[in-house]
Amino acid sequence: MKIALGNDHAAVEMKKFVKEYLTGLGHEVQDVGTNEEVSCNYAVYGEKVANIVAAKEADFGVLICGTGVGISLAANKVPGIRAAVCSEPVTARLVKEHNNANIIAFGARIVGNETAKAILDAYMNAEFMGGHHSERVESIMAIEKKYKR
Ligand code: RB5
Repeated sequence: MKIALGNDHAAVEMKKFVKEYLTGLGHEVQDVGTNEEVSCNYAVYGEKVANIVAAKEADFGVLICGTGVGISLAANKVPGIRAAVCSEPVTARLVKEHNNANIIAFGARIVGNETAKAILDAYMNAEFMGGHHSERVESIMAIEKKYKR
């Protein structure tokens, strides 16, 4: 799969670990940075990954900041994005199965490398269930259109 990967300064080490893990599984990873541990704005990287995913240039995105929150909030401002923060694998599976999340986010200050791997595995091995979940996801996306100015 093609995966877009982005992070802020709080998650440089975890990003490297995640990139190596995903590449080792045979995925094509587009790393948009940052690779510097110098304080930066997580919104920049959230938006970059979100644009790649919204343009369908990647199958999904992975975002990591200190908590996973700021970077996912930024990504969710890009039309077409459903970025979900997960701190454990059950939520990671369900955000794919029920919400068809196209970006998974987590916090380098919240989870360790092994949990990050478990989150990624749970998300990647899950499939959107469709059915009544499709209507709910469509209604989320309709809110985006309703408030478009
Ligand atoms: C950076 O210190 C921190 O605010 C950021 O990584 C993230 O946790 C924001 O949500």
